[in-house]
Amino acid sequence: MPSTCTRRRLLKAGLGGCGSLALSDLSTQRLFADSPAQPLARSAQTTGGVVTSNSAAASDAGRDVLAAGGNAVDAAIATALALAVTWPEAGNLGGGGFMLVAPPKGPTICIDYRETAPRSVTATTFAQHTDRRHPKMVGVPGTVRGLAAAHQQFGSRPWGELVAPAIELARAGCVVDRFLAESINEVLSLAVRSPQVYHAPLKQIFSHPDQRPWRSGDVLKQPALARTLGRLADEGADEFYAGQTGVQLADFLQRHGGLVTREDLLAYKAVARPATQTRFLGFEVCGPPPPSSGGMTIQLALQMIEAIGLDDPGDATWTAPNVHRIAEAMRRAFRERAAHLGDPDFVSIPPNLSSESFARELSRSISLERATDSRQLAGDIPLTIGPPESPDTTHFSVVDSQGMAVANTYTLEASWGAWLVDPRTGFVLNNEMGDFNWNPGYTNLDGRIGTAANLVAPGKRMLSSQSPTLVKRDGQTILVTGSPGGRTIINTVLCILVQHLAFQRPLAQAIAAPRFHHQWLPDRLLLEATDEGVWESVREPLEAMGHRVEQSPYLQGAAHSIAVDPQTRIRIGVADLRRGGSVATT
Ligand code: DON
Repeated sequence: MPSTCTRRRLLKAGLGGCGSLALSDLSTQRLFADSPAQPLARSAQTTGGVVTSNSAAASDAGRDVLAAGGNAVDAAIATALALAVTWPEAGNLGGGGFMLVAPPKGPTICIDYRETAPRSVTATTFAQHTDRRHPKMVGVPGTVRGLAAAHQQFGSRPWGELVAPAIELARAGCVVDRFLAESINEVLSLAVRSPQVYHAPLKQIFSHPDQRPWRSGDVLKQPALARTLGRLADEGADEFYAGQTGVQLADFLQRHGGLVTREDLLAYKAVARPATQTRFLGFEVCGPPPPSSGGMTIQLALQMIEAIGLDDPGDATWTAPNVHRIAEAMRRAFRERAAHLGDPDFVSIPPNLSSESFARELSRSISLERATDSRQLAGDIPLTIGPPESPDTTHFSVVDSQGMAVANTYTLEASWGAWLVDPRTGFVLNNEMGDFNWNPGYTNLDGRIGTAANLVAPGKRMLSSQSPTLVKRDGQTILVTGSPGGRTIINTVLCILVQHLAFQRPLAQAIAAPRFHHQWLPDRLLLEATDEGVWESVREPLEAMGHRVEQSPYLQGAAHSIAVDPQTRIRIGVADLRRGGSVATT
């Protein structure tokens, strides 16, 4: 039995606690060591540039830009636009997201290109609404403005050059891999049941020309999307909002009962904000600030974890005491998320939420032996105990040879968004309005949240869980990560940070490690579906501590990430193979 001192060593190390692990040893010892082959992660290393994303053609598009002398932001723009063609369930022109940029020197910036609510919404627009694929669900898209803003601030290559690979993939066609085939076949099998005329173009555009299911190796051509991208290349981002594309988009939505107008499109702005910054074990963890909840929720959880400490897991991926402590930190961080977070241009977020003293205070209610009942944490959030209400994203990472790093997560919200495509423009539209709190005051035990901070209002950005994350040490980027997965995104990133930074596991191992999720409400601890038996020894002790443990039927997330060893300058790109993924290096 290790001594208490040894058992708490890991997290006390950077704090002058009883352990003596020297942070200067990390890079050469375990953090960047080779890892044995992992079933769910594929890695490649280089001292040049690296792009990891969900699709080989999109990673290659970014890599080619790097090889031609572009920087990480240039490559990120090319990758994002290529993903809009090759991974249309989430990669997009018709959605929004967050891009974290760490230049080789200076502060990390978040380009917030989250969608906004159209100007005609009222507090009750969605009160009785249940149809998640209705044109009303579409928020004003931010992706094109966001990529253009990143280009203006950081880009070094001509805009048209960065759009070119996407145009070619849409015009000549992209090769369909197993994951894209499954994704298209699945959405078609669902959309075929929709009687709505506005869902017809999705079915026409994405059906196989021979009216059979898509198979790996097929070629998907998207001529309308190629024409839209061609206009963007020639006329710049304004074309999307003020030009032909904007006119057609507003016309399509207005005709089908949507809310977005030309005026909404013309008013849209991307915003550059300082990234959140958290000290964790001597590392600096940077994330997206509100209107994403990702940066602040991860910050709170990490600070609580540091305050309570973790056990040395030895060779075990997870131990029951560690899962318990992290789940309790998740539970509390998600409660604060629900209580306070929303669009900072509309609500004031208590400044002390990001202070270490607040996190320490919150962590004092964590029992190391017993799970807390989530209802006890509600405080001034009234909980409704009544009938339950009826109830996709992609992340990529880039590092260039000069050390500039980009973590980008963007989304259509649901997989394939609202299933809406104007046949003239060829891109899929988001259903992001679902990320607002729809019913004021209605917070239930199923996790429906009705707090004021995220109620819908004209021009407001809906709260997001997207968590593109950059970790630095001594000012230099050592990790780029992030994931899809709705509210699980936050906890996927948290699990990776604990595995890599606290347990010092090589990145491929940290990515392959099974993940877990607790979001305060519903009060349940979800364990990722895995074949590896990792949960066998932890499930019963967790249940005995009072956790409602459930085995998730799904794999959790897709965290395409990069580790950088500042001493050797070696970059290790890791594709998370849960849903495809590819690493490309120069
Ligand atoms: O921004 C958000 O939090 C959500 N719209 C993300 C949705 C998502 O990740 C779904 N996919 N996996």
